[in-house]
Amino acid sequence: MLILNTLPVAATVKAIVQENEQVKTFVLDISVGAQPGQFVMVWIPRMDEKPFSVAMDNGKELHLAIADVGPFSHAMHQLKVGDQVGVRGPFGTEFTCEKGQHLAFLGGGYGAAPLYFFAYKAVAMGCTVEFVVGARRKDLLLYTEKAKQLKGVNVHVATNDGSEGFEGFNTVLLEKVVTEATDIDCIYTCGPEIMQLKAAELAVRENVEAQISVERYMKCGFGVCGNCCVDGSGVPSCVEGPVMPLKKVLELRDFGKYHRDKVGHKKYF
Ligand SMILES: Cc1cc2nc3c(=O)[nH]c(=O)nc-3n(C[C@H](O)[C@H](O)[C@H](O)COP(=O)(O)OP(=O)(O)OC[C@H]3O[C@@H](n4cnc5c(N)ncnc54)[C@H](O)[C@@H]3O)c2cc1C
Ligand code: FES
Repeated sequence: MLILNTLPVAATVKAIVQENEQVKTFVLDISVGAQPGQFVMVWIPRMDEKPFSVAMDNGKELHLAIADVGPFSHAMHQLKVGDQVGVRGPFGTEFTCEKGQHLAFLGGGYGAAPLYFFAYKAVAMGCTVEFVVGARRKDLLLYTEKAKQLKGVNVHVATNDGSEGFEGFNTVLLEKVVTEATDIDCIYTCGPEIMQLKAAELAVRENVEAQISVERYMKCGFGVCGNCCVDGSGVPSCVEGPVMPLKKVLELRDFGKYHRDKVGHKKYF
C-alpha cells in the first residue's frame, strides 16, 4: 500500500526569520496537517534528509525552527527565500491535553519552538500554560516573545548567567512553578535529554503526569529502518514517539543516559 506522507512533497521557502545566533525559523509554503509534537523529514537533494519538529502548521504554512549544528542544518541555514526542499510527514506522536487543564511546559534549545505550537493549541482549548524556557543567555532564548503574546500563557524565563529572568537552570524554575501552582495536570518537555530527565524526576516526585519528546537518530521516520529504536522497550521512537507518556519513558534503559548515532554506536549524554 502506498502511504502518501512517506513520499516527499516540494515546499518553497516563503520567509526566513533569524531567531538568534544559532536558530532560524523557515516558513514553508505548505501544510502537512501536523499536530504539535510531530515531526517532518526535510530533504535537500544530493545532501541528506533529517527530522525536524513542527514549530507551527496553520493549514497554510509549515514553520520549522532549525539550529545550525552540523552539515545538514548548516546547508538549511544557507537557503534563501524561493529555494525548495522536500518534506515528508507528519510523523510520530503528538502532545495531548484536555480542555481547561493547567499545564507546565519545559523547553530548552530548539525545543521551545514545538512547545510554542502546542501552547497555541492548548490555550485555544481553554488551558492555562506555564511556559518555562531556558537558555545560557538572554539572546539565545527562543520563541519567548511569541509565547508571551498568547492569552492564557504565563512565560517563565531562566538564563544561566541571569541576563533575563531567573538565574540558573530552567529545571529549577520548573520545580518552583510546579510546586507553587499545586494543581498542574501535566508536564510537557522538549529539548536536551538531561533537562528532560530532571522534568521526569520532578513529575515522579510530585506525582504529576508528563509527556516527553524522546529524540533518537531517525532515518525513515515511519518505523521501517529500526534506527531510532529505544533501548528497554525496543520500540521505534519515530512511531511510538517522539512524544511518550512518562510511564513509557520510565521503561527506557537509555533515557537520560545515551542515544545512538547513525550506525548504532552509543553516545553518552
Ligand atoms: C524527532 C526529532 C525532532 C527534531 N527537531 C528538531 C528541531 O525542531 N530543530 C532542530 O534544530 N533540530 C531538531 N532535531 C535534531 C536534528 O534532526 C539534528 O540536529 C540535525 O539532523 C543535525 O544534522 P546536521 O547534519 O546538521 O548535524 P550532525 O553533525 O550530523 O549532527 C549533530 C547532532 O544532531 C543529531 N542528529 C543528526 N542527524 C540526526 C538524525 N537523522 N536524527 C536525529 N538526530 C540527528 C545527532 O545528535 C548529532 O549528534 C530533531 C531530531 C529529532 C529526532
Ligand atoms: S527512523 Fe526508521 S524506524 Fe524510526
